[in-house]
Amino acid sequence: MIVDKDFVIATIDERLYGSFIEHLGRAVYGGIYEPGHPSADERGFRKDVLSLIRKLRVPIIRYPGGNFVSGYDWKDGVGPLELRPSRLELAWRTIEPNRFGMNEFVDWSKAAGTDVMWAINLGTHGVEEARQIVEYANHASGSYWSDLRISHGYKAPHAIKTWCLGNEMDGPWQIGQKTATEYGRVAAESAKVMKLVDPSIELVACGSSGKFMASYPEWEATVLDHTYDHVEFLSLHSYYGNADNDTETFLGRSLEMEDFIRSVTATCDYIKAKKRSKKTMHLSFDEWNVWFHSNDADKKIEPWQVAPPQLEDVYTMEDALVVGCLLIALLKHSDRVRMACLAQLVNVIAPIMTENGGDAWAQTIFYPYMHASVYGRGQALVPLVQSPKYDTKEITDIPYLESIAVYNEEANEVTIFAVNRDLKHSLPLEVDLRSFGGCRVLEHLVLENDDLKSTNTARQPERVAPHSHGNAIVDGSKISASLTKASWNVIRLSLN
Ligand code: AHR
Repeated sequence: MIVDKDFVIATIDERLYGSFIEHLGRAVYGGIYEPGHPSADERGFRKDVLSLIRKLRVPIIRYPGGNFVSGYDWKDGVGPLELRPSRLELAWRTIEPNRFGMNEFVDWSKAAGTDVMWAINLGTHGVEEARQIVEYANHASGSYWSDLRISHGYKAPHAIKTWCLGNEMDGPWQIGQKTATEYGRVAAESAKVMKLVDPSIELVACGSSGKFMASYPEWEATVLDHTYDHVEFLSLHSYYGNADNDTETFLGRSLEMEDFIRSVTATCDYIKAKKRSKKTMHLSFDEWNVWFHSNDADKKIEPWQVAPPQLEDVYTMEDALVVGCLLIALLKHSDRVRMACLAQLVNVIAPIMTENGGDAWAQTIFYPYMHASVYGRGQALVPLVQSPKYDTKEITDIPYLESIAVYNEEANEVTIFAVNRDLKHSLPLEVDLRSFGGCRVLEHLVLENDDLKSTNTARQPERVAPHSHGNAIVDGSKISASLTKASWNVIRLSLN
C-alpha cells in the first residue's frame, strides 16, 4: 500500500462513528436504563454500560428508532412518569412503558459524552408533529412547547442539531409506509417547518431501506426531487449476514457496501445536475452492521412483552472482521458519507451486551468499532493498494488486503487499519509512507482467533479480544508487517 500525505479523501466527520439506540428489545430497558440494577445511578442509567460506551467515544446516537419511531408519539415519553401511558408498540409487537423518553435520553447522552440524532415520526404523524417537537426540544422559551419543556424541568434547550425525517418509509413493514412521492412531499414540508423553528438544524431524508428494495434507486431520485433544497443528508441502510456459512463471501460484503455508496452518490449527483444546484448532498449511513444470528430466535418471541430479548445477535470473530471491512469501506467514502450509525449499540444487534440485573460486556465487534472511532480521527488517505484477489460464486475480485490509513495531524500520528481476508495464510503487508518521512511504531494491535466462530459471553467476556503483539516494523519510511490469517490490525505510527 502506498500512502501519501497529499492524497486526501476527506477530513473525517467524527459522526462517521455514530451508533443507534431504538426502543426495541432490551436496548433501552435492561440495556442503558435499568433502575434498581447494582450499577445504576439515581436516574436509572447503568454505569457499567456507560463506561463501555465511553470507551467507544461514540460521537452521536440515533434515537428513538428505527421502525419503532413510525408509530411513536414522543409526547408519551415526556413529563411526569406517573402520567405516561403504556402503549402497544406495533413495529416490534411489544408493550412500550414510556419510562424513558426524550429528556431522559438527552440526560443519558450527556453522561455518555455523545450527541443526539433524533428521528421524527413520519409514519403516523407528519408536519404538525415535526414543528412541535423541534419547538419543544430547541426553542428557548415563551411558546407553548418550549414552556412545556421548561415545566418538565429542562430550562435550557436541548439544542438537538441532527434530525432524521422518519425511518425506512419505503418498507412494507413500516407503519405508515409511503410511496416516494408521498414521502418526498411530507419530508420536504416537515423540513420546511422544522427549519422555520430552528434554522441551525441539519436534516436527513430517508433513502431506500436497502439495495434489495425493488424501488431502489428510483426512490432516492424521487425523494431528492422533492427534498434536495431542504435537507443536508440522504440515508442508507444495510445489514450483512452469513446464513449460508460462506465466510469468504461474507468477508467480501464490504465491496457491496461500497457499490451501494457509489450508486447513491451518483443518484444524488444526478439530481444535483437536474436542479442545477450548487449544493452537494452528503450521505448518512445511519444503519449498518452484521445481522442474522438472531433471526430464528426472534420468530419464537411471544408478543406484547416489555423489553423481550429481540435481535440479540451473539457476534463471532468473523463478524468482527466483516465489521472491520465495513468500517474501512465507510472511511474510503468519507468525502460523501459524513455520518454513519453502527446499528445498534446495546443488546440489539450490538457491540455491548448486558444481563438484566447482571453483567455488561464487549462483543467481538466492539473492538474494530472502538479502534476506528478512537484512532480513526483526522484525514482519511487514499489507499493505493495492490493485493492478490479471490473470487466466490457471488462476488469477484475480493482483495485479500482491505486497508486504509488515517492521518491525525494534531497527534502527529498515522494509523493503518488492515484486514487480512485470507482464512488460511498470513499476508505480508508493506506500506510506503513516502512524504511522511520517518516514524516509529507505537503499537500494532491484532484481533484474531483460531476459531472464527468464537464469541464473547457473560462467562467468557474476553475470549475474543485484541492483543498488542503484532509484528509491524519500520525501515525508513517503509512499514512491514505480517498480517496473520483472518485478522483485524491497527498499526499506530508516531511521525518523526
Ligand atoms: O435496526 C433494526 C431495524 O432495522 C430498524 O428498526 C429498522 O430501521 C431496520 O429495518
